[in-house]
Amino acid sequence: MPRTEPIKAARGVRDILPGELPLWHQVEDAAESTARRYGYEEIVTPVIEPAELIERIGADTDAVAKELYRFERPGMQTLALRPEATAGVVRAYFENGLNQAPKLARLYLIGPMFRHDRPQKGRYRQFFQFNVEVIGGASPAFDAEVIEIARGWLNGVRIESLRLELNSIGDHRCRPAYLEKLKDYYRPLKSQLHGECQLRLESNPLRLLDCKVPQDQPFKAGAPRVTDHLCDECAAHWDSVQRLLTAAGIEYQHNPYLVRGLDYYTRTVFEFYPGGATGQQDALASGGRYDGLAAEEGWPETPGVGFAGGIDRVTELLREKTPLAPTPAADVLVIPNGDMPMEATEVARICRAVRPTAADYEPRNFPAKMRLAEALGVTWAVILNPAQAARRMARLRDMASGDESEVAWDDLPSKLA
Ligand code: HAM
Repeated sequence: MPRTEPIKAARGVRDILPGELPLWHQVEDAAESTARRYGYEEIVTPVIEPAELIERIGADTDAVAKELYRFERPGMQTLALRPEATAGVVRAYFENGLNQAPKLARLYLIGPMFRHDRPQKGRYRQFFQFNVEVIGGASPAFDAEVIEIARGWLNGVRIESLRLELNSIGDHRCRPAYLEKLKDYYRPLKSQLHGECQLRLESNPLRLLDCKVPQDQPFKAGAPRVTDHLCDECAAHWDSVQRLLTAAGIEYQHNPYLVRGLDYYTRTVFEFYPGGATGQQDALASGGRYDGLAAEEGWPETPGVGFAGGIDRVTELLREKTPLAPTPAADVLVIPNGDMPMEATEVARICRAVRPTAADYEPRNFPAKMRLAEALGVTWAVILNPAQAARRMARLRDMASGDESEVAWDDLPSKLA
């Protein structure tokens, strides 16, 4: 039965088209070269992981509670599409014995993540992240290092105007007492909070601080600040991170309401926003320290810190700044004047030794083929006529100047090189 409607992509996912990919690759290449400059090595982990592992990033986390693609089948392990990479990278680090290596793990990963979020601009159900993780490093210098990498990457693609928001959310020693203070503050206000925050008050009070609902905003100013309630170790760490950033010339704003969506964070949390923008903008890159995650997954307690940047968002921002200029896929187009597929393929093969080359095999008339060559923006056209081709000769046309010369097929590589 023929369908009445053609089949389209699933909701919230998108195709990245050839015209967009040069910019996309620029963003990825800048990510890789920045990470390598700091001595980070690439790791690739599966997009599918045991659901149990993913659920360790926090049962109250939106990415798990509401947005997880989870596959449950009777008698089989329950799996999930990864909504983020950190849990999998930590698993891979221990499972493959990287923790036994004499060096510290400085890792980066580029790949797709999946969240069943409400689709909107900058928010997709499949999106790509550039992740940077240091596993086994407790020093605040690592926090500053990953922040510097995030900034270096964004600056590397000429996103210079950035706002870095920074906070510390303490750890398992000091946070519980702080959360009690936060609850004590909010309890008398409970009936004035919106529904979801009323529930969060007992289950995940930290999230009250990053609530965006207007009716809850006036209460934040009076709420106790987590950075005023850090234990000595966390306070010293927080102080060092700030001093290291200042020494590195990295400007930041202390945002006492920044707590991040994922539950595994301890101490440092941060987010990079495109600067100059007013109002609510999506973060380009965000991360923090996760000293408790390894133990949550059942591995030995091991500190870690990292971030992930959104490749889709960064690419979109760049495209808004500089509209895409079409780039020709090939430098050379072989244009047979007539039906000459054998000759055209042979000549294209010869040219391809030195330059990206395509051939126009279509039965269009010759002027139409020349117009297409103009439109494609190729540098050279190699024109084949039956009489010249019989002598293994072609006309080489410089498309910019219009100059043409007769060239033997075998001399094409030297002329085009
Ligand atoms: P996250 O804040 O959930 O953190 O995501 C990191 C970045 O991924 C965001 O800043 C954003 O640029 C991009 N992103 C997130 N969701 C979407 C979406 N639906 N569509 C497009 N882009 C999106 C994490 O994932 C942590 N694992 C980061 C980390 C690594 N923390 C420590 N190490």
